[in-house]
Amino acid sequence: MSPQQKLNTSKTITLAFTGASGMPYGIRLLELLLAGGNRVYLLYSQAAQIVAHQELQLTLPSRAKEAEELFSRRFNAAEGQLRVFGREEWFAPVASGSNPADAMVVCPCTMGTLAAIAAGLSQKLIERAADVMLKESRKLILVPRETPFSAIHLENMLKLARGGAVILPANPGFYHHPVNVQDVVDFVVARILDHLGVAHSLMPRWGAES
Ligand SMILES: Cc1cc2nc3c(=O)[nH]c(=O)nc-3n(C[C@H](O)[C@H](O)[C@H](O)COP(=O)(O)O)c2cc1C
Repeated sequence: MSPQQKLNTSKTITLAFTGASGMPYGIRLLELLLAGGNRVYLLYSQAAQIVAHQELQLTLPSRAKEAEELFSRRFNAAEGQLRVFGREEWFAPVASGSNPADAMVVCPCTMGTLAAIAAGLSQKLIERAADVMLKESRKLILVPRETPFSAIHLENMLKLARGGAVILPANPGFYHHPVNVQDVVDFVVARILDHLGVAHSLMPRWGAES
């Protein structure tokens, strides 16, 4: 099956990287969403650019078109499969409830972006896209990374969970006996893909016969 054929039967997912530690989760998720033939709308914050460089020596270009080319090439995306939007690109499809994606994931998600979404600020495209998902009753998955959590963080998460968001912290388990960092990353990414309803075979399922 060609990537374009796969695209016709797949989902449209908005993926946002923000400036929390855990950029390997976000990049791996992008890779697997594209490999699965899904259409991806990618957004990232300025702080995400700093963290990507710090954690992966990865330069996230400031121009959306450059990022589109970079990741399309790296992950062998089909024509039009990946679209990247700038921080205030208000004409992007993700900015409106008239054209929402099937689901949105903020991975990794900072406490700052989480607070802005909880407050409904919508001052940046990431915040607006998340706000649209909530108001349109579409799936919004937030992958926070912070420790410990303050009472403010926890209140914001509770508010979002009550508003329909899935709070899926980057908390890897160890019962699958990871032997390297990739295994640890894949544990969290597998849980996100499960919540998106995207098929994967990253690791055996608990209780399944081998
Ligand atoms: C290397 C690095 C790691 C960071 N890790 C976290 C983190 O794990 N969680 C968090 O909430 N903020 C973290 N921050 C702080 C955020 O990047 C900062 O609050 C920023 O303003 C968030 O902006 P954004 O939500 O628009 O990405 C980190 C910053 C740097 C430079």
